[in-house]
Amino acid sequence: MFSTTLSSGASLRPLEPWRAEEFAAHLDRAREHIRPWVGPSFVTVDVAGARATLGLYAERAARDGAGIYGIWAEGVLVGGVMFVEFSPATGVFEIGCWLEPDGEGHGHITSAVRELLAYAFDERGMHRAEWRCRSDNHRSSAVARRLGMTLEGVLREAWPVGDVFYDKQVWSLLASEWRVASAAQVRDHHDRHEHAG
Ligand SMILES: CC(C)(COP(=O)(O)OP(=O)(O)OC[C@H]1O[C@@H](n2cnc3c(N)ncnc32)[C@H](O)[C@@H]1OP(=O)(O)O)[C@@H](O)C(=O)NCCC(=O)NCCS
Repeated sequence: MFSTTLSSGASLRPLEPWRAEEFAAHLDRAREHIRPWVGPSFVTVDVAGARATLGLYAERAARDGAGIYGIWAEGVLVGGVMFVEFSPATGVFEIGCWLEPDGEGHGHITSAVRELLAYAFDERGMHRAEWRCRSDNHRSSAVARRLGMTLEGVLREAWPVGDVFYDKQVWSLLASEWRVASAAQVRDHHDRHEHAG
């Protein structure tokens, strides 16, 4: 139900509070892998913590239409994408993501983030997407680059982990750039089918 098939073959669905047990089991597989790179409140340790995270996103989804979405590969929840911020008043939103180790390297995130960009820009008329990551998070910045985002700058020592302060990159994509990129993608798709046909 309410599922989108990603170009990677995985499924993208809303990650709702009733899935807390499944989300907690997934976090058991993902926790140490994601801990250095995501906000500490996301790295919960039990079902109650997992339910609290999903509850928070459900409240925000009811308020402004943002949300958190899981990625299932062959029936297993392997990660997801979310609107970390979503402000219809300013047109600005921020996308975040995570995967357990087995979920990496298949293109799930790049494809899932495209779905969120399409929803935010095309359906909601949003104006500016942001992507924030630790400057040494090369896999994360590779996703932003792959999606055609621009690296706007580095917030120096803005990402504390324990007693170390890491630099934080800010990437963005504007609605006008999204329209150009998605038109090019449609052309590409069309050309490939013409040649195959
Ligand atoms: C950041 C993170 C989600 C990126 O995962 P990822 O697997 O690199 O990203 P994608 O799912 O888009 O997959 C891209 C990879 O799949 C490969 N791939 C295969 N098929 C692909 C396709 N159809 N499209 C795009 N990429 C594809 C790419 O080549 C790339 O692999 P490579 O970097 O080894 O070349 C993951 O590393 C992670 O969870 N890290 C820890 C948590 C984290 O950092 N979260 C983000 C906080 S800002």
